[in-house]
Amino acid sequence: MPNIRVHFETFGCQMNKLDSETAAEKLLASGFELADTPDAADVIIFNTCSVREHAEERVYSRIGTLKRAKRLRPELVIGVMGCMAQKDGKLIFRRAPLVDIVCGPRQEMRLAELIAEARKGRRILALDGVDCVQAPQAEPGAAWLERTGLTRPSPFHAFAAIMLGCDNFCSYCVVPYVRGREESRPIDDVAEEVRRLAASGAREITLLGQNVNSYSFGLPKLLRKIHDTPGVERIRFVTSHPKDVSDDLLAAMAELPKVCRHLHAPAQSGSSRILGLMNRRYTREHYLDMAGRARRIVPGIEIASDFIVGFPTETQDDFQQTVGLVKEAGFNQCFIFKYSPRPGTKAAEMADDVPHDVKKRRNNDLLAVQEEVSICRNRQKHGRVMEVLIEGPSKNDPARLTGRTGGNDIVAAAGPPSLAGSIVQVRITGSTPLTLLGEIAP
Ligand code: 5AD
Ligand code: SF4
Repeated sequence: MPNIRVHFETFGCQMNKLDSETAAEKLLASGFELADTPDAADVIIFNTCSVREHAEERVYSRIGTLKRAKRLRPELVIGVMGCMAQKDGKLIFRRAPLVDIVCGPRQEMRLAELIAEARKGRRILALDGVDCVQAPQAEPGAAWLERTGLTRPSPFHAFAAIMLGCDNFCSYCVVPYVRGREESRPIDDVAEEVRRLAASGAREITLLGQNVNSYSFGLPKLLRKIHDTPGVERIRFVTSHPKDVSDDLLAAMAELPKVCRHLHAPAQSGSSRILGLMNRRYTREHYLDMAGRARRIVPGIEIASDFIVGFPTETQDDFQQTVGLVKEAGFNQCFIFKYSPRPGTKAAEMADDVPHDVKKRRNNDLLAVQEEVSICRNRQKHGRVMEVLIEGPSKNDPARLTGRTGGNDIVAAAGPPSLAGSIVQVRITGSTPLTLLGEIAP
């Protein structure tokens, strides 16, 4: 019998991308094959995100497009994994009757077994902390799978999860409910995985967690421990909670040359009143103080942020404070989202009282402000020589290569595709709001 072919479609954050890789590796090890397209697959798994309603809508509409395929090939298995699976459980079967498997985030190690059951024509529900209807539960506790790197999208770059879950309970956020309590992975286990990833060709490692600063064994200690792993040239970590960015961490970033001078520390709002309602446990002043400390202790650091516009009760004045923060903090990148109430969260008990068109306008206005900041910051880099890890040919212009600086700026430069995976010196000669343009320095 030919091997069963599985196709993954991944939505949402980097943790989801890593989970898809991990699940794919586990399936390969169990004798499955991977399919690049849904048409070539016997099993299609959607790895889903619940952070905003829009992300959920997109998954349902993608599943809807498989109606015809499922009619023509009734043996096609459709699975939903990730945050939406944990959040909505068997409601998904009702809303999307084409779905055969619903599998929560800490049950994903068992996909092979779940797929085998589903192919017998049964509907499978496997969730954490729920009495499963058709499938027994995995043992509790984190399932850290050892990965070889076979399925990662770039051979030169790899993610390594250092913790799962989140205990912060920001009032708008569904993550603590769907991903559960924080659990940190022991330093030696992470170090071992980093060694293996480097041995398989990864030169840049990104340590992942919802809030890596609360890594219980100490993030600075972990950075020092993995710093000299043979083959590793760059180390990043995401995401940082602004309230937990310690001087100790900043000192480690300043001291360790392979740690990228890049901090993704989402501010979410520039209004202390809104930050209070968000349960972020810092004020606008604390945030700016943190950014100032980072720039003092780690010269050249780039700070990136996320913002939510249109949180309940956000006034034009609150929004102007966010605009002011964006101008003052000097981010190199901002990701901006319209507030989306998530059932079960504290904020969802408040009226979602900022009209949609106001959210949209604030979103566009803030993007425009950040664009100005980016243009100005990028211009200051003209003439400088920066170290860039080349990822490969640019999608928009195959004659150019793209890569990233340590600060996570995107760079495009002409050069041969054979440079993919190398760290090269690039002289910056120009820029667009989102990209630095340059020439590879001899
Ligand atoms: N509505 C809009 N954006 C949200 N985020 C998290 N929850 C919500 C929500 N309910 C944003 C935050 C977070 C990013 C990953 O998604 O900015 O940093
Ligand atoms: Fe959500 Fe806040 Fe945890 Fe980030 S830190 S995952 S925004 S609860």
